[in-house]
Amino acid sequence: MHDRTAAINSPPATVQRAESGVPRALRRYLSLDDFEATARRRLPKFLYGYISGATETDAALADNRRAFQEYGFVPRVLNDVSGREQATTLFGKTYAAPFGIPPMGSAALCAYRGDIVLTRAAAAMNVPMILSASSLITLEDVRRENPAAWYQAYLAGDASRIEPLVDRVAAAGYDTFVVTADVPVPPNRENNIRNGFQVPLAITPRVAWDTVTHPDWLLGTWARTLMNYGMPHFENMDAVRGPPVLAKNLMRNIGKRDQLAWKHVELIRKRWNGKLVVKGLIAPDDAKIARESGVDGVIVSNHGGRQLDGTVSALRTLPEIADEAGGMTVMLDGGIRRGTDVLKALALGAKFVFIGRPLLYAAVAGGEAGVRRALTLLRDEVDRDMALLGIRSIGEISSGLVRRL
Ligand code: GLV
Repeated sequence: MHDRTAAINSPPATVQRAESGVPRALRRYLSLDDFEATARRRLPKFLYGYISGATETDAALADNRRAFQEYGFVPRVLNDVSGREQATTLFGKTYAAPFGIPPMGSAALCAYRGDIVLTRAAAAMNVPMILSASSLITLEDVRRENPAAWYQAYLAGDASRIEPLVDRVAAAGYDTFVVTADVPVPPNRENNIRNGFQVPLAITPRVAWDTVTHPDWLLGTWARTLMNYGMPHFENMDAVRGPPVLAKNLMRNIGKRDQLAWKHVELIRKRWNGKLVVKGLIAPDDAKIARESGVDGVIVSNHGGRQLDGTVSALRTLPEIADEAGGMTVMLDGGIRRGTDVLKALALGAKFVFIGRPLLYAAVAGGEAGVRRALTLLRDEVDRDMALLGIRSIGEISSGLVRRL
C-alpha cells in the first residue's frame, strides 16, 4: 500500500538539484529563461533591445523557437541509464557538455568585462567559448584567461585586411577561427533606431536618460569600465585596434563586407593551420561548398534571427546538412533554451550546439557566477533528459528518438 508518511516526508523535488555551492542570490534562477527579467531591469532599454531584438517582423527569431516545438520525443525505457556521460569531443578536445557559448558582440558593454566573464565561466565548466570580432577586450587578453577560446571574424572581402588579422589570431595562440558568413550588409534592426542605439554609441538625450535611469548599469558596468580600463574600443575587428565604442559621427570600418566570398574562405584555409569554421549558413548547398573549401566545421545558424528576417530556423535544414557533411563537423545555434532542445538538435544531426542570449543575460544578472549557474542548469537538464530518454552517452542519440509533431 502507498505509504503516505513516506511521501510527505520525502524531500521536495528542488532538493534533488545540486544547490550546494551556488550563491544564494543565484538559487532563484532555475532555467535559462529566468535570467532575462533581471537583465531587462538592469540594462538601459537600448542595450536590452539590442540583445533581445531581431529584425523587421522578428519572423526568423520566432521560427527558432517554433522549430524546436515541432518535435517531440519517443523515449526508450528500462535501459539502465546509470553512469550517464554527456562529454563530447569536438576538434580533438573533450568538453564537459555538447554545448558552448557563441560569439556575442559588445558583451563588455552589457556586462562588466563581459567577454572575460563569459570566457572564464566557459573555462571553469570546460565548454567552448567563441570571442566575437565586435568585442571590446583584446583577443590576446581573452585567450590568456581561456586557452581554449575560439575567435570569430567579421570580414570584409579584402585580402589585405584578412591576412594580417589571421596572423594576429594565430600569434595569440587560437586554434579555431570562425568566419561569420551571413552579414554582407547591416541588418534592418528598427528596434535599435527606435531606442536611439547606434554603434559606435552616440549620447543623444534619449540615451542619456535611458542610462541615468539604469544606475546599476551606469555605475556597475559603464563607469566601472571607464575607471578601470578607460574608454572601450572595438579591439578585434582587424589586426589593429578599432574605434572607441563611444564616438561622434564615427563609423566602424565595415566596408566591403558585401564582397566577402568563398574565395576568401579558401584564402584563409591556406593561411590558417588551425580548425576553420563557417558560421551562419542555412542552405545545404552552402554546406556542400564549405566542405569542398576545406572547412572543418559549420555552425548552421540564422544569427539568432538577427540578419535576414524570415530565414528559417537552422533546425529545419540541419538534417539535410548533416547528410551533406562528410567529415565536416556540424554545429547549430538559435532557439536553444532547454536540455530537451539540445537533445533534439543532436538527434537531428548536430554534433554540438551554442546558446547565446540567455548566457549574456546571465552575465548581466550574475557575472561569471551567473554564467556558471546557467551552464550548470543546462548541463543538469541534459543529464536528466538523457536518463529520461533512455540513453547513457551522446553517441546513442539518434533520429529515432524524436518525431515531428
Ligand atoms: C552581432 O552579431 C549581432 O547580431 O548584433
